[in-house]
Amino acid sequence: MATQDELKQQVAKAAVEYVKGGIIGVGTGSTANFFIDELAKVKAKIDGAVASSEATAQRLRNHGIEVFDLNSVDGMEIYVDGADEITEHMHMLKGGGGALTREKIVAQRAKTFVCICDGSKQVSVIGKFPLPVEVIPMAQAQVTRALEQLGAQVTLRKIKGSDQVFVTDNQAWILDVAGLKITNPIQLESEINQIPGVVCNGLFARRKANVLLIGEAAGVRRQTYS
Ligand code: 5RP
Repeated sequence: MATQDELKQQVAKAAVEYVKGGIIGVGTGSTANFFIDELAKVKAKIDGAVASSEATAQRLRNHGIEVFDLNSVDGMEIYVDGADEITEHMHMLKGGGGALTREKIVAQRAKTFVCICDGSKQVSVIGKFPLPVEVIPMAQAQVTRALEQLGAQVTLRKIKGSDQVFVTDNQAWILDVAGLKITNPIQLESEINQIPGVVCNGLFARRKANVLLIGEAAGVRRQTYS
């Protein structure tokens, strides 16, 4: 029986088939890290990468892959990233690692979003995993109240095992929002973004995945949506 990490590694390997050259958009998290390690093996084929977090940029550089500023890039063929949840409609919930805003920005510039994850991430309805919402620190209390009015339970994210607030690469904070019934992720994504003080939320429904590579015991399953 394959471990979760082995399944993540399988999909990371499979995603390399989509690397044809140029500049690659790269996500954040443990599955994206496996992808970076695989990308390093074919680095002669590409010009470099755009990173969705400081951690990803560092790992790419450690492998000798050039990291480009998004503003200097015309566009990308592919963006490769993991997800915390994904539906059959390719709507995703992301941001478990706190990189949701930069992930959404980089993904927006790519023609094809290749989502890589192990089978545990596939769900019929999004929302069991608390929805990450990045906020400007001064707006934390009022955004919390607005989200509570939607019926959610809201927790300010702390660094694991500590009392210190988790600070994103954008010097903002994350609210983890539990108990939402997300039956219309496209609408909720926009609605939450309208709350003053919200930087971005972890629903990736407006810009969803185009290719899904799911790691299962029987191998990698592919689903596409163009
Ligand atoms: C980080 C993300 C990740 O893609 C998501 O949390 C999945 O992470 P992992 O690959 O470690 O399971 O959105 O902000």
